[in-house]
Amino acid sequence: MRGAQITGWGLALPDTIVTNADYEARLDTTDEWIVERTGIKERHQGGTTSGLAIESSRRALARAGRRGEEIDLLVLATTTPDRAVPATSSWVHYELGCRGAAFDLNAACAGFVYGLVTAVALLDAGHDRALVVGSDTLSQITDQNDRGTAVLFADGAGAVVVEATEGEPLILAHDLGLDGSLTPILYCDRGGFIVMEGREVFRRAVRATVESAERVLKQADVTVEEIALFVPHQANLRIIDAVGQRLGIDPERYAICLDHTGNTSAASCGIALAEAADAGRMQEGDLVLFSGFGAGMTWASAIVRWGGAPTAPSVAGKAGARG
Ligand code: ACO
Repeated sequence: MRGAQITGWGLALPDTIVTNADYEARLDTTDEWIVERTGIKERHQGGTTSGLAIESSRRALARAGRRGEEIDLLVLATTTPDRAVPATSSWVHYELGCRGAAFDLNAACAGFVYGLVTAVALLDAGHDRALVVGSDTLSQITDQNDRGTAVLFADGAGAVVVEATEGEPLILAHDLGLDGSLTPILYCDRGGFIVMEGREVFRRAVRATVESAERVLKQADVTVEEIALFVPHQANLRIIDAVGQRLGIDPERYAICLDHTGNTSAASCGIALAEAADAGRMQEGDLVLFSGFGAGMTWASAIVRWGGAPTAPSVAGKAGARG
């Protein structure tokens, strides 16, 4: 397999912060319940899926020292496209000045990892530089009067630049899957709001995430002790803890953002990764375990090797992000 490397990362969150106290003031809920049952303290709401995708992508491009025109593949994972047609990635592609292919991918909250695996496979097939973005505006499809979902879902985007190299493969192992029979436990009809059987989603999510993570560890012949950072989908801290305990990963190795972002669906693993990278939590060669689950019910895990110098030639020199 062709080598690849993550060379840039970025995130975007809308300016408006909605705290648990804000919900406490208008719904039958408390800050204590939300923090205890979910780990969420506040979340960001607003913006559009394309706008957040563009903002996070510009940051990722700047970090990679690349321009939009140097990207020949854009994969936008989202559950909340701006329009039914065309794909949201069309506008993002135009605004960033990318070349080549762009498409949307809907694997719900597993979207970022689905997107990363898809992009790396297409780099192997001949593309040179990919932008993988997870962007969602779940607040638009969440009933803000329903305490069971309103406090959970929010908006944001996370992006990475992935470049083909002559070095090591980026992904040591991946596991993508879904069980479509579980559609009824989490869905949103066109024009409607998210309907969720929270307790059942919780139970299934823990099982799916653990089993998927175990499959990639086995496939890559990697022990859990060798994982430097665990980047789970950020839905509920109790789900992450249950998964971490079953896998034997201590909380010091979790990448967590949900306390201040809530559940940003396809963006969540991208945001958690970008924050961990900004905080300097990964060293070159570190193994990062991604694991996500979402409506569908989808799941996606991947073990990624962090770092390694890109060698693919630049088409326009190393310059900052456009615009
Ligand atoms: N404040 C106060 N009470 C609440 C709230 C709230 N915000 N929300 C629910 N409750 C109540 C319920 O009404 C219920 O009351 P009852 O016993 O009188 O009926 C009680 O709390 C317990 O409800 P449970 O659903 O059993 O609570 P639980 O501890 O399971 O927590 C939660 C609910 C947070 C939704 C949890 O089940 C969960 O996180 N599930 C997974 C959700 C998830 O991950 N969704 C994202 C999937 S990814 C994607 O694709 C979008």
